[in-house]
Amino acid sequence: MQTRVLTGITTTGTPHLGNYVGAIRPAIKASRRADVDAFFFMADYHALIKSDDAARIERSRLEIAASWLAAGLDPQRVTFYRQSDIPEIPELTWFLTCVAAKGMLNRAHAYKAAVDKNAENGVDADVGITAGLYMYPVLMAADILAFDAHKVPVGRDQVQHIEMARDIGQRFNHIHGREFFVLPEALIEEQVATLPGLDGRKMSKSYDNTIPLFAGGAKQLREAIMRIVTDSRRLGEPKDPDSSSLFTIFRAFASVAETAEFRQALLDGLGWGDAKQVLYERIEADVAPMREHYEAFMADPAAIETILQQGAQKARAIATPKIAALRDVLGLRSAVTGAIAAAQPKVATKQGKLPRFASFRDADGSFRFRLFSAEGEELLLSMPFADPKAAGALQKRLKALGAAGAVLQIQPQGMTLYLDGERVASTPDYRDEPSRDAALTQLRAVLDQLAAQE
Ligand code: TRP
Repeated sequence: MQTRVLTGITTTGTPHLGNYVGAIRPAIKASRRADVDAFFFMADYHALIKSDDAARIERSRLEIAASWLAAGLDPQRVTFYRQSDIPEIPELTWFLTCVAAKGMLNRAHAYKAAVDKNAENGVDADVGITAGLYMYPVLMAADILAFDAHKVPVGRDQVQHIEMARDIGQRFNHIHGREFFVLPEALIEEQVATLPGLDGRKMSKSYDNTIPLFAGGAKQLREAIMRIVTDSRRLGEPKDPDSSSLFTIFRAFASVAETAEFRQALLDGLGWGDAKQVLYERIEADVAPMREHYEAFMADPAAIETILQQGAQKARAIATPKIAALRDVLGLRSAVTGAIAAAQPKVATKQGKLPRFASFRDADGSFRFRLFSAEGEELLLSMPFADPKAAGALQKRLKALGAAGAVLQIQPQGMTLYLDGERVASTPDYRDEPSRDAALTQLRAVLDQLAAQE
Protein backbone atom coordinates (compact mmCIF):
# COMPACT_ATOMS: atom_id res chain seq x y z
CA MET A 1 0.00 0.00 0.00
CA GLN A 2 1.10 3.53 -0.67
CA THR A 3 1.74 5.94 2.14
CA ARG A 4 -0.15 9.16 1.70
CA VAL A 5 2.18 12.06 2.42
CA LEU A 6 0.68 15.54 2.61
CA THR A 7 2.42 18.91 2.68
CA GLY A 8 0.97 22.40 2.94
CA ILE A 9 2.81 25.55 1.91
CA THR A 10 1.63 28.86 3.33
CA THR A 11 1.33 31.42 0.54
CA THR A 12 2.79 34.56 2.02
CA GLY A 13 6.25 34.71 0.46
CA THR A 14 8.49 34.17 -2.55
CA PRO A 15 10.46 30.92 -2.59
CA HIS A 16 14.14 31.32 -1.70
CA LEU A 17 17.16 29.01 -1.79
CA GLY A 18 16.47 27.88 1.78
CA ASN A 19 12.94 26.76 0.81
CA TYR A 20 14.35 24.97 -2.20
CA VAL A 21 17.00 23.00 -0.34
CA GLY A 22 14.97 22.45 2.83
CA ALA A 23 11.52 21.73 1.42
CA ILE A 24 10.96 21.83 -2.33
CA ARG A 25 13.82 19.61 -3.48
CA PRO A 26 13.42 16.85 -0.84
CA ALA A 27 9.62 16.85 -1.15
CA ILE A 28 9.72 16.46 -4.92
CA LYS A 29 12.28 13.71 -4.61
CA ALA A 30 10.11 11.85 -2.09
CA SER A 31 7.06 12.28 -4.34
CA ARG A 32 8.74 10.20 -7.03
CA ARG A 33 8.90 7.11 -4.83
CA ALA A 34 6.58 4.34 -5.93
CA ASP A 35 5.33 3.78 -2.37
CA VAL A 36 4.35 7.42 -1.83
CA ASP A 37 1.02 9.03 -2.76
CA ALA A 38 1.96 12.69 -2.44
CA PHE A 39 -0.37 15.61 -1.79
CA PHE A 40 0.91 19.18 -2.07
CA PHE A 41 -1.25 22.17 -1.55
CA MET A 42 -1.04 25.89 -1.14
CA ALA A 43 -2.38 26.81 2.27
CA ASP A 44 -3.92 30.07 1.17
CA TYR A 45 -6.61 30.04 3.86
CA HIS A 46 -3.79 29.87 6.38
CA ALA A 47 -2.13 32.77 4.60
CA LEU A 48 -5.20 34.90 5.40
CA ILE A 49 -4.45 34.46 9.09
CA LYS A 50 -1.01 35.95 8.62
CA SER A 51 -1.62 38.61 6.03
CA ASP A 52 -4.38 40.87 4.77
CA ASP A 53 -2.32 41.99 1.80
CA ALA A 54 -4.36 40.53 -1.07
CA ALA A 55 -1.83 41.38 -3.77
CA ARG A 56 0.91 39.64 -1.84
CA ILE A 57 -1.14 36.50 -1.31
CA GLU A 58 -2.13 36.42 -4.95
CA ARG A 59 1.45 36.83 -6.13
CA SER A 60 2.74 34.30 -3.64
CA ARG A 61 0.25 31.65 -4.76
CA LEU A 62 1.41 32.06 -8.32
CA GLU A 63 5.11 32.13 -7.47
CA ILE A 64 4.89 29.08 -5.26
CA ALA A 65 2.92 27.08 -7.82
CA ALA A 66 5.33 28.07 -10.60
CA SER A 67 8.36 27.29 -8.42
CA TRP A 68 7.23 23.82 -7.42
CA LEU A 69 6.25 22.95 -10.99
CA ALA A 70 9.50 24.34 -12.38
CA ALA A 71 11.47 22.37 -9.79
CA GLY A 72 10.01 19.18 -11.22
CA LEU A 73 6.78 18.50 -9.36
CA ASP A 74 4.73 16.28 -11.67
CA PRO A 75 1.04 17.19 -11.32
CA GLN A 76 0.05 13.96 -13.08
CA ARG A 77 1.77 11.94 -10.45
CA VAL A 78 0.95 13.91 -7.31
CA THR A 79 -2.15 15.78 -6.20
CA PHE A 80 -1.33 19.48 -6.37
CA TYR A 81 -4.01 22.01 -5.45
CA ARG A 82 -4.99 25.15 -3.61
CA GLN A 83 -6.65 24.82 -0.24
CA SER A 84 -9.20 27.50 -1.19
CA ASP A 85 -10.38 25.40 -4.14
CA ILE A 86 -11.59 22.68 -1.77
CA PRO A 87 -14.80 23.82 -0.06
CA GLU A 88 -14.84 20.59 1.92
CA ILE A 89 -11.89 21.87 3.96
CA PRO A 90 -13.71 24.77 5.64
CA GLU A 91 -16.75 22.54 6.07
CA LEU A 92 -14.66 19.92 7.80
CA THR A 93 -13.02 22.66 9.85
CA TRP A 94 -16.39 23.41 11.38
CA PHE A 95 -17.13 19.74 12.11
CA LEU A 96 -13.77 19.48 13.82
CA THR A 97 -14.20 22.79 15.64
CA CYS A 98 -17.22 21.25 17.32
CA VAL A 99 -15.14 18.46 18.85
CA ALA A 100 -11.80 20.23 19.40
CA ALA A 101 -11.05 21.03 23.03
CA LYS A 102 -10.71 24.74 23.65
CA GLY A 103 -8.19 24.02 26.37
CA MET A 104 -5.96 22.31 23.83
CA LEU A 105 -6.11 25.31 21.51
CA ASN A 106 -5.19 27.55 24.46
CA ARG A 107 -1.90 25.70 24.59
CA ALA A 108 -0.95 26.13 20.92
CA HIS A 109 2.55 27.64 20.73
CA ALA A 110 1.76 30.46 18.33
CA TYR A 111 -1.33 31.57 20.26
CA LYS A 112 0.44 31.28 23.61
CA ALA A 113 3.39 33.30 22.36
CA ALA A 114 1.00 36.07 21.30
CA VAL A 115 -0.73 36.01 24.70
CA ASP A 116 2.61 36.03 26.53
CA LYS A 117 3.73 39.01 24.52
CA ASN A 118 0.62 40.91 25.50
CA ALA A 119 1.28 40.06 29.16
CA GLU A 120 4.84 41.35 28.82
CA ASN A 121 3.51 44.58 27.38
CA GLY A 122 1.01 44.83 30.20
CA VAL A 123 -2.03 44.83 27.94
CA ASP A 124 -5.13 42.65 27.83
CA ALA A 125 -4.31 39.02 26.96
CA ASP A 126 -6.19 39.02 23.67
CA VAL A 127 -5.14 42.34 22.20
CA GLY A 128 -4.45 41.97 18.49
CA ILE A 129 -5.18 38.24 18.42
CA THR A 130 -7.73 37.07 15.87
CA ALA A 131 -9.94 34.05 16.23
CA GLY A 132 -8.22 32.94 13.00
CA LEU A 133 -4.89 32.60 14.77
CA TYR A 134 -6.61 30.72 17.55
CA MET A 135 -8.28 28.34 15.09
CA TYR A 136 -5.18 27.82 12.96
CA PRO A 137 -4.59 24.29 14.28
CA VAL A 138 -8.16 23.18 13.51
CA LEU A 139 -7.95 24.37 9.92
CA MET A 140 -4.66 22.52 9.61
CA ALA A 141 -6.24 19.38 11.09
CA ALA A 142 -8.96 19.60 8.43
CA ASP A 143 -6.30 19.88 5.69
CA ILE A 144 -4.80 16.65 6.87
CA LEU A 145 -7.82 14.62 7.99
CA ALA A 146 -9.89 15.39 4.86
CA PHE A 147 -7.44 13.26 2.88
CA ASP A 148 -6.56 10.64 5.48
CA ALA A 149 -2.88 11.48 5.21
CA HIS A 150 -0.59 9.04 6.97
CA LYS A 151 2.48 11.22 7.16
CA VAL A 152 3.00 14.94 7.27
CA PRO A 153 6.58 16.13 6.78
CA VAL A 154 7.09 19.19 8.94
CA GLY A 155 9.73 21.18 10.71
CA ARG A 156 9.99 21.02 14.50
CA ASP A 157 7.82 24.10 14.92
CA GLN A 158 4.85 22.30 13.38
CA VAL A 159 4.96 19.07 15.35
CA GLN A 160 2.46 20.33 17.91
CA HIS A 161 -0.03 21.01 15.12
CA ILE A 162 0.18 17.42 13.95
CA GLU A 163 -0.37 16.20 17.48
CA MET A 164 -3.45 18.39 17.67
CA ALA A 165 -4.72 16.98 14.37
CA ARG A 166 -4.34 13.49 15.85
CA ASP A 167 -6.12 14.54 19.01
CA ILE A 168 -9.02 16.09 17.13
CA GLY A 169 -9.29 13.14 14.71
CA GLN A 170 -9.24 10.70 17.59
CA ARG A 171 -11.98 12.58 19.44
CA PHE A 172 -14.17 12.53 16.36
CA ASN A 173 -13.55 8.82 15.82
CA HIS A 174 -14.31 8.14 19.44
CA ILE A 175 -17.50 10.19 19.63
CA HIS A 176 -18.90 8.69 16.47
CA GLY A 177 -17.66 5.19 17.12
CA ARG A 178 -15.78 4.51 13.92
CA GLU A 179 -12.37 5.08 12.38
CA PHE A 180 -13.48 7.95 10.19
CA PHE A 181 -10.05 9.51 10.10
CA VAL A 182 -6.59 8.13 9.73
CA LEU A 183 -4.51 9.60 12.55
CA PRO A 184 -1.56 11.36 10.94
CA GLU A 185 2.04 11.16 12.03
CA ALA A 186 4.58 13.94 11.83
CA LEU A 187 7.59 13.12 9.68
CA ILE A 188 10.17 15.24 11.38
CA GLU A 189 12.87 16.37 9.09
CA GLU A 190 15.82 16.15 11.42
CA GLN A 191 18.66 16.34 9.04
CA VAL A 192 16.99 18.59 6.55
CA ALA A 193 19.48 21.13 5.44
CA THR A 194 18.69 24.52 6.84
CA LEU A 195 20.67 26.98 4.80
CA PRO A 196 22.35 29.98 6.36
CA GLY A 197 21.24 33.30 4.91
CA LEU A 198 23.22 36.36 3.87
CA ASP A 199 24.09 37.22 7.48
CA GLY A 200 24.88 33.67 8.61
CA ARG A 201 21.64 33.20 10.55
CA LYS A 202 19.10 30.66 9.23
CA MET A 203 17.83 31.81 5.84
CA SER A 204 14.36 33.14 6.54
CA LYS A 205 11.99 35.75 5.26
CA SER A 206 11.59 37.04 8.81
CA TYR A 207 15.33 37.82 9.02
CA ASP A 208 15.32 39.46 5.60
CA ASN A 209 18.46 37.54 4.69
CA THR A 210 17.26 35.36 1.83
CA ILE A 211 18.64 34.57 -1.59
CA PRO A 212 15.80 34.31 -4.12
CA LEU A 213 15.41 31.03 -5.95
CA PHE A 214 14.01 32.31 -9.25
CA ALA A 215 12.67 35.80 -8.74
CA GLY A 216 14.82 38.49 -10.34
CA GLY A 217 16.68 36.06 -12.56
CA ALA A 218 20.38 35.23 -12.63
CA LYS A 219 21.29 38.83 -11.96
CA GLN A 220 19.55 38.98 -8.58
CA LEU A 221 20.90 35.58 -7.66
CA ARG A 222 24.44 36.74 -8.30
CA GLU A 223 23.93 40.04 -6.53
CA ALA A 224 22.56 38.33 -3.44
CA ILE A 225 25.44 35.84 -3.37
CA MET A 226 27.93 38.70 -3.59
CA ARG A 227 26.32 40.14 -0.43
CA ILE A 228 26.92 37.03 1.72
CA VAL A 229 28.85 38.12 4.80
CA THR A 230 32.35 36.66 5.09
CA ASP A 231 35.25 37.21 7.47
CA SER A 232 38.01 39.64 6.61
CA ARG A 233 40.62 37.16 5.48
CA ARG A 234 42.24 38.24 2.26
CA LEU A 235 43.26 36.52 -0.94
CA GLY A 236 46.00 34.01 -0.19
CA GLU A 237 45.04 33.58 3.47
CA PRO A 238 43.59 30.15 4.30
CA LYS A 239 39.82 30.21 4.97
CA ASP A 240 37.92 28.00 7.40
CA PRO A 241 35.27 26.22 5.28
CA ASP A 242 33.37 24.93 8.30
CA SER A 243 32.58 28.35 9.66
CA SER A 244 31.70 29.80 6.28
CA SER A 245 28.06 30.03 5.19
CA LEU A 246 29.34 30.26 1.63
CA PHE A 247 30.70 26.76 1.97
CA THR A 248 27.55 25.45 3.64
CA ILE A 249 25.42 26.73 0.80
CA PHE A 250 27.84 25.34 -1.80
CA ARG A 251 27.68 21.92 -0.19
CA ALA A 252 23.87 21.87 -0.45
CA PHE A 253 24.17 21.95 -4.24
CA ALA A 254 27.45 20.22 -5.03
CA SER A 255 28.58 16.61 -5.27
CA VAL A 256 30.98 15.17 -2.72
CA ALA A 257 33.89 15.57 -5.13
CA GLU A 258 33.02 19.17 -5.95
CA THR A 259 32.65 19.93 -2.26
CA ALA A 260 36.07 18.46 -1.46
CA GLU A 261 37.60 20.52 -4.23
CA PHE A 262 35.99 23.73 -3.01
CA ARG A 263 37.08 23.03 0.56
CA GLN A 264 40.65 22.61 -0.61
CA ALA A 265 40.54 25.81 -2.62
CA LEU A 266 39.35 27.73 0.47
CA LEU A 267 42.08 26.18 2.60
CA ASP A 268 44.55 27.18 -0.10
CA GLY A 269 43.55 30.82 0.17
CA LEU A 270 40.95 31.35 -2.57
CA GLY A 271 39.72 34.96 -2.27
CA TRP A 272 36.14 35.47 -1.04
CA GLY A 273 35.19 37.29 -4.25
CA ASP A 274 36.30 34.33 -6.35
CA ALA A 275 34.68 31.90 -3.93
CA LYS A 276 31.38 33.73 -4.39
CA GLN A 277 31.73 33.48 -8.15
CA VAL A 278 32.32 29.73 -7.84
CA LEU A 279 29.27 29.42 -5.61
CA TYR A 280 27.15 31.46 -8.00
CA GLU A 281 28.16 29.34 -10.98
CA ARG A 282 27.46 26.11 -9.12
CA ILE A 283 23.98 27.19 -8.06
CA GLU A 284 23.22 28.72 -11.44
CA ALA A 285 24.06 25.41 -13.13
CA ASP A 286 21.18 23.80 -11.18
CA VAL A 287 18.80 26.72 -11.18
CA ALA A 288 19.08 28.03 -14.75
CA PRO A 289 17.18 25.19 -16.47
CA MET A 290 14.45 25.32 -13.82
CA ARG A 291 14.26 29.10 -14.07
CA GLU A 292 13.38 28.80 -17.72
CA HIS A 293 10.33 26.73 -16.78
CA TYR A 294 9.54 29.11 -13.95
CA GLU A 295 9.50 32.08 -16.26
CA ALA A 296 7.38 30.24 -18.78
CA PHE A 297 4.83 29.43 -16.06
CA MET A 298 4.85 32.95 -14.68
CA ALA A 299 4.13 34.24 -18.16
CA ASP A 300 1.20 31.85 -18.52
CA PRO A 301 -0.95 31.93 -15.38
CA ALA A 302 -3.74 30.22 -17.32
CA ALA A 303 -1.59 27.10 -17.60
CA ILE A 304 -1.05 27.12 -13.84
CA GLU A 305 -4.75 27.64 -13.27
CA THR A 306 -5.59 24.61 -15.40
CA ILE A 307 -3.13 22.44 -13.52
CA LEU A 308 -4.49 23.59 -10.17
CA GLN A 309 -8.10 23.09 -11.22
CA GLN A 310 -7.28 19.55 -12.28
CA GLY A 311 -5.54 19.06 -8.96
CA ALA A 312 -8.58 20.37 -7.11
CA GLN A 313 -10.76 17.94 -9.01
CA LYS A 314 -8.53 15.03 -8.00
CA ALA A 315 -8.50 16.19 -4.39
CA ARG A 316 -12.25 16.72 -4.28
CA ALA A 317 -12.85 13.27 -5.69
CA ILE A 318 -11.59 12.14 -2.29
CA ALA A 319 -12.89 14.88 -0.05
CA THR A 320 -16.45 15.11 -1.39
CA PRO A 321 -17.55 11.55 -0.58
CA LYS A 322 -15.66 11.77 2.70
CA ILE A 323 -17.54 14.87 3.80
CA ALA A 324 -20.80 13.42 2.52
CA ALA A 325 -20.30 10.42 4.78
CA LEU A 326 -19.54 12.71 7.71
CA ARG A 327 -22.64 14.81 7.07
CA ASP A 328 -24.62 11.60 7.27
CA VAL A 329 -23.05 10.62 10.53
CA LEU A 330 -23.64 14.05 12.02
CA GLY A 331 -27.33 14.11 11.16
CA LEU A 332 -27.01 16.50 8.26
CA ARG A 333 -28.52 14.20 5.68
CA SER A 334 -31.00 15.38 3.13
CA ALA A 335 -34.53 14.72 4.31
CA VAL A 336 -34.99 12.37 1.36
CA THR A 337 -32.20 10.00 2.27
CA GLY A 338 -32.18 10.51 5.99
CA ALA A 339 -33.56 8.54 8.87
CA ILE A 340 -36.84 10.40 8.69
CA ALA A 341 -37.36 9.35 5.10
CA ALA A 342 -36.20 5.84 5.90
CA ALA A 343 -38.87 5.60 8.56
CA GLN A 344 -41.59 6.44 6.04
CA PRO A 345 -43.37 3.51 4.46
CA LYS A 346 -41.76 2.74 1.14
CA VAL A 347 -43.88 3.51 -1.84
CA ALA A 348 -42.61 1.17 -4.48
CA THR A 349 -41.72 -2.03 -2.71
CA LYS A 350 -43.01 -4.36 -5.37
CA GLN A 351 -40.23 -6.47 -6.83
CA GLY A 352 -38.76 -4.98 -9.95
CA LYS A 353 -40.04 -1.53 -9.14
CA LEU A 354 -36.87 -0.41 -7.42
CA PRO A 355 -33.52 0.54 -8.85
CA ARG A 356 -31.18 -2.42 -8.66
CA PHE A 357 -27.65 -3.58 -9.20
CA ALA A 358 -26.98 -6.51 -11.49
CA SER A 359 -23.62 -8.26 -11.17
CA PHE A 360 -22.05 -10.19 -13.99
CA ARG A 361 -18.75 -11.60 -15.23
CA ASP A 362 -16.96 -10.15 -18.16
CA ALA A 363 -15.67 -12.22 -21.07
CA ASP A 364 -12.18 -11.90 -19.58
CA GLY A 365 -13.35 -13.16 -16.19
CA SER A 366 -13.43 -9.88 -14.28
CA PHE A 367 -16.38 -8.88 -12.14
CA ARG A 368 -18.64 -5.96 -12.94
CA PHE A 369 -22.09 -4.70 -12.28
CA ARG A 370 -24.68 -2.46 -13.79
CA LEU A 371 -27.08 -0.13 -12.04
CA PHE A 372 -30.58 -0.07 -13.47
CA SER A 373 -33.37 2.38 -12.74
CA ALA A 374 -36.71 1.07 -11.50
CA GLU A 375 -37.84 1.35 -15.09
CA GLY A 376 -35.01 -0.91 -16.20
CA GLU A 377 -32.83 1.69 -17.85
CA GLU A 378 -29.09 1.19 -17.55
CA LEU A 379 -27.59 4.06 -15.55
CA LEU A 380 -24.09 2.89 -14.68
CA LEU A 381 -21.56 0.28 -15.66
CA SER A 382 -18.83 -0.40 -13.11
CA MET A 383 -15.14 -0.76 -13.89
CA PRO A 384 -13.94 -4.38 -14.00
CA PHE A 385 -12.76 -5.88 -10.69
CA ALA A 386 -10.55 -8.90 -10.25
CA ASP A 387 -12.22 -9.62 -6.92
CA PRO A 388 -16.02 -9.98 -6.68
CA LYS A 389 -15.84 -8.68 -3.10
CA ALA A 390 -14.46 -5.37 -4.37
CA ALA A 391 -17.40 -5.06 -6.74
CA GLY A 392 -19.78 -5.85 -3.87
CA ALA A 393 -18.10 -3.36 -1.56
CA LEU A 394 -18.48 -0.65 -4.17
CA GLN A 395 -22.23 -1.34 -4.45
CA LYS A 396 -22.48 -1.02 -0.69
CA ARG A 397 -20.64 2.28 -0.65
CA LEU A 398 -22.80 3.69 -3.40
CA LYS A 399 -25.86 2.75 -1.36
CA ALA A 400 -24.42 4.23 1.79
CA LEU A 401 -23.39 7.53 0.26
CA GLY A 402 -26.31 8.43 -1.96
CA ALA A 403 -26.03 11.20 -4.51
CA ALA A 404 -24.09 13.47 -2.14
CA GLY A 405 -21.17 11.06 -2.35
CA ALA A 406 -21.05 10.92 -6.12
CA VAL A 407 -18.30 12.85 -7.83
CA LEU A 408 -19.18 12.86 -11.46
CA GLN A 409 -16.89 13.97 -14.17
CA ILE A 410 -19.02 15.09 -17.02
CA GLN A 411 -17.94 14.49 -20.59
CA PRO A 412 -19.83 15.70 -23.65
CA GLN A 413 -21.64 12.38 -24.03
CA GLY A 414 -21.46 10.61 -20.72
CA MET A 415 -20.22 10.72 -17.17
CA THR A 416 -17.58 9.03 -15.08
CA LEU A 417 -18.17 8.36 -11.40
CA TYR A 418 -15.31 8.73 -8.94
CA LEU A 419 -15.05 7.48 -5.39
CA ASP A 420 -12.06 8.14 -3.17
CA GLY A 421 -10.21 9.48 -6.16
CA GLU A 422 -10.69 6.36 -8.27
CA ARG A 423 -12.79 5.95 -11.39
CA VAL A 424 -15.34 3.39 -10.38
CA ALA A 425 -18.07 3.47 -12.98
CA SER A 426 -19.30 5.21 -16.08
CA THR A 427 -22.62 5.91 -17.69
CA PRO A 428 -23.62 4.91 -21.19
CA ASP A 429 -22.97 7.49 -23.90
CA TYR A 430 -25.90 9.79 -24.41
CA ARG A 431 -27.10 11.21 -27.70
CA ASP A 432 -26.78 14.82 -26.74
CA GLU A 433 -26.26 17.11 -23.82
CA PRO A 434 -29.92 17.46 -22.82
CA SER A 435 -30.32 13.68 -22.58
CA ARG A 436 -27.06 13.49 -20.66
CA ASP A 437 -28.31 16.12 -18.23
CA ALA A 438 -31.58 14.30 -17.81
CA ALA A 439 -29.63 11.12 -17.11
CA LEU A 440 -27.58 12.99 -14.53
CA THR A 441 -30.71 14.09 -12.67
CA GLN A 442 -32.07 10.58 -12.81
CA LEU A 443 -28.83 9.03 -11.61
CA ARG A 444 -28.71 11.37 -8.62
CA ALA A 445 -32.32 10.57 -7.74
CA VAL A 446 -31.69 6.84 -8.02
CA LEU A 447 -28.59 7.02 -5.84
CA ASP A 448 -30.60 8.86 -3.21
CA GLN A 449 -33.37 6.30 -3.51
CA LEU A 450 -30.87 3.50 -2.95
CA ALA A 451 -29.51 5.28 0.11
CA ALA A 452 -33.04 5.68 1.46
CA GLN A 453 -33.62 1.91 1.14
CA GLU A 454 -30.60 1.18 3.28
N1 TRP B 1 1.27 25.38 9.06
C1 TRP B 1 2.15 24.97 8.01
C2 TRP B 1 3.40 25.87 8.01
O1 TRP B 1 3.32 26.99 8.49
C3 TRP B 1 1.48 25.04 6.66
C4 TRP B 1 0.35 24.10 6.59
C5 TRP B 1 -0.99 24.38 6.56
C6 TRP B 1 0.44 22.67 6.59
N2 TRP B 1 -1.71 23.24 6.54
C7 TRP B 1 -0.88 22.18 6.55
C8 TRP B 1 1.53 21.79 6.61
C9 TRP B 1 -1.13 20.81 6.58
C10 TRP B 1 1.28 20.43 6.60
C11 TRP B 1 -0.04 19.95 6.61
O2 TRP B 1 4.40 25.45 7.53
